[in-house]
Amino acid sequence: MCGIVGYIGQKQATPFLIEGLTKLEYRGYDSAGIAVYDGENIRVEKSVGRLSALTDKIAQDEPKGSLGIGHTRWATHGRPSDLNAHPHSDCTGDFVVVHNGIIENYLPLKEELIANGHIFHSETDTEVVAHLLESLYDGDFEAAVRAVLSKVEGSYSLVFMSKKHPDMLICAKRENPLVVGLGDKENFIASDIPAIIGRTRRTYILGDGEIAIVRADGVTITNKKGEPIAKKVFTVNWNAEAAEKGGYEHFMLKEIHEQPKAVKDTMRERIKKDGSEIQLNELNWNTKFLSSFNKIYIVACGTAYHAGLVGKFYIEKLSRMLVEVDVASEFRYRNPIVDKNTLVIVVSQSGETSDTLAALKESKRLGAKTLALTNVVGSSIAREADYVLYTWAGPEIAVASTKAYTTQLILFFMLALYMAEIKNTLQPSRIKELITLLKRIPAQISETLTDVEPIKTFAKRYGFNEDVFYIGRSLDYDVALEGSLKLKEVSYIHAEAYSAGELKHGTLALIVEGVPVIALATQKSVYEKTLSNIKEVKARDAVVIGIAAEGDEELSKYVDHVMYVPETDELLIPLLTVVPLQLLAYYAAITRGCDVDKPRNLAKSVTVE
Ligand code: F6R
Repeated sequence: MCGIVGYIGQKQATPFLIEGLTKLEYRGYDSAGIAVYDGENIRVEKSVGRLSALTDKIAQDEPKGSLGIGHTRWATHGRPSDLNAHPHSDCTGDFVVVHNGIIENYLPLKEELIANGHIFHSETDTEVVAHLLESLYDGDFEAAVRAVLSKVEGSYSLVFMSKKHPDMLICAKRENPLVVGLGDKENFIASDIPAIIGRTRRTYILGDGEIAIVRADGVTITNKKGEPIAKKVFTVNWNAEAAEKGGYEHFMLKEIHEQPKAVKDTMRERIKKDGSEIQLNELNWNTKFLSSFNKIYIVACGTAYHAGLVGKFYIEKLSRMLVEVDVASEFRYRNPIVDKNTLVIVVSQSGETSDTLAALKESKRLGAKTLALTNVVGSSIAREADYVLYTWAGPEIAVASTKAYTTQLILFFMLALYMAEIKNTLQPSRIKELITLLKRIPAQISETLTDVEPIKTFAKRYGFNEDVFYIGRSLDYDVALEGSLKLKEVSYIHAEAYSAGELKHGTLALIVEGVPVIALATQKSVYEKTLSNIKEVKARDAVVIGIAAEGDEELSKYVDHVMYVPETDELLIPLLTVVPLQLLAYYAAITRGCDVDKPRNLAKSVTVE
């Protein structure tokens, strides 16, 4: 997730570019850059760090001109640096591009371009677009852009600028957002509405495959075939704050709704085209490497720890390796049994959590090999670990982690399958079957997000209870832990998750008439046992809200309400059951008037012990 902007008109471009990027910094903030055409040349200025580093750099000498593009980056290919910051240019400096997304086939394209004499300056996937444009250009800018788009695979929103065609900017999108803002003798481009809302409220929201030719005095939108299309003007009536949240009331809700896209991005480039294998090129492990370990530790905090519990299940079940999971603040003081035969996997959205970082350093000191699952490129944890797998969830702003959790689960699942491939612990047909189901998950998460009304009703009805219990067995229990943490942290309701089979060893004493119990019952291998536990709480007159897979006809006989999620393999269902639990926590917090995005006493990144 990056932020991109463009300006063409009569005024100076730089003030708009900087203003727009400021509004888009929530989309990425590890480096920023602008390119402005001064009537003769394109001047590119970029800087690693927050946008303020760029504004400081140009403060005494702002690029002048009324055609320009800009970018605020959230690194994917290539660490945050001046060179990797956008905009990127071709060899001549005649063409400049900014990009949000991932060009999946950039490596073969880059190799071909290098073989043809092009010189690259960055490690990014984006730079190939600028060089491709140079190589395919024969006097017709629009035709060259179309030719480029026919060659690149992956997801993108792109803005193209050329000093040979200073009367236009061209932009295109696939899977990533892009809007064109319509002004008076000036037009704007941005990846999101907040960037342009200070200048205009009249916009075109571009669709996948559409290409916009943006001039100062007009905008033409064409489809893939180059035919002009009549696009409806969308008038934005959100205020600036709502615009930043994509029209959602809170970042937490926005991020819950971003999950289908986020998990798709996590999978991107990691599944072989024919769907038969997981490919984690970042690791390049082999049988010898894996057989050097007699144990795996997964170490993390909070939600990331809960993802680790699911990770343990996946790795043990699919790749048959022994896994221990620990919270980082305990692990580092326990004198853990870690040596060169241990693989330590640390999980951290921010990549900066102090306890997790310390656990990672301690593991390295003890001789372990380390792998980080993180969301932030270039973070301390990413830099410290021997291997890194990025979740590619995009910036998570709300304190309560949602899309980071689901993307961590996806990564763990892929890692377990990858290890199973290497160790030969699964039949190829089973791997293929699981990959097929994995690929359905983004659409199935979208399905769970379509009807939130029943969840709002539960939240209103039970939102003022002081205690809520979550129960489940096997993977359902791991998800129950995450669901209860979400409810606690955003709504301040006392919530406890129990392994359903453990209730009778003490906690059942707390189950009295009217206490809400959220019961997850999706794990087929322990389904009957879970039903018995549900009957135990029902017999104490608890109000039970069941969570089941579609097609389950049993559960509704024993509980007060049921929320259904789409059917999939029981290994993958946590990716679906967690969604209503996130929403329940969110709407309970709303019912109670809590500050959802900034819960009391909590911080997004815990960089102190
Ligand atoms: C809960 C939450 C926290 C974090 C924890 C670890 O919603 O966000 O529990 O999961 O502080 O943070 P990271 O993943 O950044 O290491």
